[in-house]
Amino acid sequence: MATNLKPETIKVMEERHSVRAYESFQMPEEDLNAILTAAGTAPSSWNLQHWKFMVIQDPALKQELLPIANNQQQVVDSSVTIAVLGDLEANLNAPLIYDAAVKAGAMTQEVRDIMISQIEGAYQNAQIARDEAIRNASLAAMQLMLAAKSLGYDSVPMGGFNAQKFIEQFNVPARYIPVLLISIGKAKKPAHESGRFPLSQIVVKGKF
Ligand SMILES: Cc1cc2nc3c(=O)[nH]c(=O)nc-3n(C[C@H](O)[C@H](O)[C@H](O)COP(=O)(O)O)c2cc1C
Repeated sequence: MATNLKPETIKVMEERHSVRAYESFQMPEEDLNAILTAAGTAPSSWNLQHWKFMVIQDPALKQELLPIANNQQQVVDSSVTIAVLGDLEANLNAPLIYDAAVKAGAMTQEVRDIMISQIEGAYQNAQIARDEAIRNASLAAMQLMLAAKSLGYDSVPMGGFNAQKFIEQFNVPARYIPVLLISIGKAKKPAHESGRFPLSQIVVKGKF
């Protein structure tokens, strides 16, 4: 194995599976913050950090979420469900990020201006904005699940929810698109077995 690969990271990846039955467990705020902070270290296009994490922990809010999430019981039984949102207007983050970089001496004003105009150009296209929101928020979502696992929690990502109803019920501004719900907690029952394709089926070397 190459020396720059960390076996413990791979172990966490291999041990993460989707758990759907949870013990009643109050997650310490410290753990929740550690998981969210780790999720936020994900890479993102132009470092625009196209994610917002809605933390749904209050029992009454979990009950509101239940029918929106196709009555998937894990949203009630787990410690917390995080709605990972993608930012459709992540271009608005650019001045915050690039002005700070200029101030820190990491970038010239000229480069900052070029980057911002490049970003603004790209964001004229709504399809690009949507693709970027989903792509980048998904990277953060994956990191969130791995961080949870490495802290001794299990999780399940869910695309099975009514995004429109979620937007309405949870007052999500038009700027954001719901990407995934992720329930996190202490497993009551292990995940179902799930297989994976061998490398021969998932890898194409060179061109198709
Ligand atoms: C985008 C996405 C949507 C998913 N939606 C659901 C869901 O709504 N409910 C559910 O129980 N599992 C859901 N899953 C979990 C998958 O079923 C699971 O990841 C897959 O079967 C592999 O199993 P594993 O995660 O245990 O390794 C989803 C996974 C992904 C990546």
